[in-house]
Amino acid sequence: MKPAVLVGSAVFPEVLDKLAQHFELTANQEDVLWTPTELAQQLQGKQGVFTTGSQRIDAALLAACPDLKICANMAVGYNNFDLDAMTAAGVLATNTPDVLTETTADFGFALLLATARRITESEHFLRAGLWSRWRYDLFAGAEVFGSTLGILGMGRIGQGIAKRAALGFGMKVIYHNRSRLDEATEAACQARWVSKDELLRTCDHLMLVLPYSAASHHSIGAAELALMKPTATLVNIARGGIVDDAALAAALRAGQLAAAGLDVFEGEPAVHPDLLACHNVVLTPHIASATQATRLAMAQLAADNLIGFLLHGKPLTPLNPQ
Ligand code: DGY
Repeated sequence: MKPAVLVGSAVFPEVLDKLAQHFELTANQEDVLWTPTELAQQLQGKQGVFTTGSQRIDAALLAACPDLKICANMAVGYNNFDLDAMTAAGVLATNTPDVLTETTADFGFALLLATARRITESEHFLRAGLWSRWRYDLFAGAEVFGSTLGILGMGRIGQGIAKRAALGFGMKVIYHNRSRLDEATEAACQARWVSKDELLRTCDHLMLVLPYSAASHHSIGAAELALMKPTATLVNIARGGIVDDAALAAALRAGQLAAAGLDVFEGEPAVHPDLLACHNVVLTPHIASATQATRLAMAQLAADNLIGFLLHGKPLTPLNPQ
């Protein structure tokens, strides 16, 4: 008998077809966001589930789903998983590293440029018919080429951004991470480790690329924002909870920070009203990895993890090897 698998949200038809060849498949055709109770009901009798960051897998859900053996996340981030609870319950977790690194780094850079150079703000101005003439100071933004980029979190995506910054934009790159990179990697990224305080005080642009966990919750709050230059920009392509959104909006309003580019939000898809009210913020709906090719590669990898584990006992990218 084929193992039973649930796909919790909409996904590429070709990926569903592939899964259907191997599994007894139930797919969330309406693409509704199930409540935890509905998800637990849908998971009855299922050995595997294909998740996105929107589906929380925790101890309560696992206790209600005794047949579950693997949760395959279509994301590199896995803060929707309680990994300890999954390990304790003997449930494998997998994610989709590597396939999205360059695409996400590209987006981080796009958001940095759009934010520093005030691209969305100036487009709104133009579309509103407010452009009457060329002016010396019209939407004058912050310099990117040759400036100092601070990167908080220096995993694969952080390293991709560092290379773009150093090699393509002549930027001085500093980073802070719990552990320092080895010398060869630092040299390849042309990046120098500094303390978090020094990073915040000296960077012209701050890029957040660290994973979200209880330890990184509100890593950037009022105290950290107060250390930054008033001319600095902040870009978050990591996870919403890393920044205290209310404190960020207050800093932007007070001129303590020049601008922010945000792809992720606390409590998304809701966005803090004070951020929506700020003119100096570029806002995007969690799309850093969203190219057709990369999203397909992520979905294929999540599917291959289900196939590899449930049919052959060999997942490709396990997070908590059993
Ligand atoms: C990831 O892969 O973690 C992206 O944020 C998509 O959720």
